[in-house]
Amino acid sequence: MSDSGDSERILSLAEIEDGAAKGFEVEVAGKRQMLFGIRHGDDVHVYINSCPHIGTPLNFLPDRFLTMDGKHINCSTHGALFTIEDGMCIAGPCKGRPLRQIPSHVEGGEVFIRTRALML
Ligand code: FES
Repeated sequence: MSDSGDSERILSLAEIEDGAAKGFEVEVAGKRQMLFGIRHGDDVHVYINSCPHIGTPLNFLPDRFLTMDGKHINCSTHGALFTIEDGMCIAGPCKGRPLRQIPSHVEGGEVFIRTRALML
């Protein structure tokens, strides 16, 4: 991973199939954070891997963040469903509460996140 101001490269766009999700970890200011990203064409939506219900990671298995039809993010613990675009919980025990999204952008086929957003 490389730093560029408060942006950090997290992975290559080619490492995520279009419509799929991938989990990863970053270290910011000495603190490790679990994140996951969902590719949508040439964009990647990045979220902190912590369910707003009780704070557990959303997935039991590596890179398993989506429903079978790939249309929603799914928490494996109690089945909450979230929108891919903004991480809002639309069904389940945390309905109306969003995942924490981390600003990201794609440049030259590489995915970057705003590390400052992880320090808030
Ligand atoms: S911990 Fe995610 S729905 Fe309960």
